[in-house]
Amino acid sequence: MKQLETKRLILRKFEEKDLYDLYEYAKKEEIGPMAGWKPHESIEETRRILELFMKEQEYAIVLKEINKVIGSVGVHKDRYESGVLSREIGYVLDSRFWGKEITLEAVNRVLEYLFEEEALELVRVSHYTFNLRSKRVIEKLGFVYNGTIKNALVRYDGMKVDSSLYSMTKQEYENRTNSSDTEFSLLAEKMYSLLEGCPNLVAKLSNASALLNEEIERLNWVGFYLREDNQLILGPFQGKVACTRIPLGKGVCGTSALKNETILVEDVHKFPGHIACDSASNSEIVIPLHNSRKEVVAVLDIDSPYIRRFKESDKIGLERIGKIIEESCF
Ligand code: SME
Repeated sequence: MKQLETKRLILRKFEEKDLYDLYEYAKKEEIGPMAGWKPHESIEETRRILELFMKEQEYAIVLKEINKVIGSVGVHKDRYESGVLSREIGYVLDSRFWGKEITLEAVNRVLEYLFEEEALELVRVSHYTFNLRSKRVIEKLGFVYNGTIKNALVRYDGMKVDSSLYSMTKQEYENRTNSSDTEFSLLAEKMYSLLEGCPNLVAKLSNASALLNEEIERLNWVGFYLREDNQLILGPFQGKVACTRIPLGKGVCGTSALKNETILVEDVHKFPGHIACDSASNSEIVIPLHNSRKEVVAVLDIDSPYIRRFKESDKIGLERIGKIIEESCF
């Protein structure tokens, strides 16, 4: 099972040392019954579940800030014969952390992994009709409502429950209006106020690269190359040491500067002439920046350790950010 990461979370395999973290929330009255399981009454019960989790595709949600397991996302066999590559997901989060959109962050990352790397065609999820918190998460994730099954099952305590079923196809996943518009709007505002009133180019570009590095997930390098005649010279950045000169027309940066266009590289190993600075980089996006005469004077280079990290929506969002930077700096 591959470890996944988001801004606040690590999603990884369950381990034996997670026993007490798991018990801490699995015993709570407000958690299990909402998803159909009885709150754990002893650590032994939790140990049995943990053993199952360790064998399955069950991601432990680790909150980086406290390095504790606070919930999980499970990827299970699809209970319906769908004829396509499909799975059913489920999730749980310690009630102490409700209301912070942590489940959303975790499940979004798992969905991205399932559709992009495991090449799934369909993902299902369901909630008991009374579990409105879960319903909200499912709707925010962009799942499509399929219907409600009356008396879907009898819960461990004898209660008959209705279950609402949702699905998402690969196409729906790709088309869903994600939050990136809103996220980039917020980032644009932050960038604008950060640069406003700062008189120095190096200070501006340094802070701009730091802000991008802080706010955008799953990057390993972000920074600027500045044009000097027929080459690009390394400017302020965040990440590992990088090459200091790139001739115009060379690498992703030089090509973007020469062609005066954003270049989105899904897999750098397939880009002829890519210049590898950090071996961790797997995908990259480079945005040309202009002065008031519309000449390319710099590029913004962003690298990620994930293949296909940058989408069309990132291109649009980052070009918006690029405009703010060029207007303030050049
Ligand atoms: N990969 C870039 C070189 C710069 S480093 O990634 C920081 C390129 O091919 O232009």
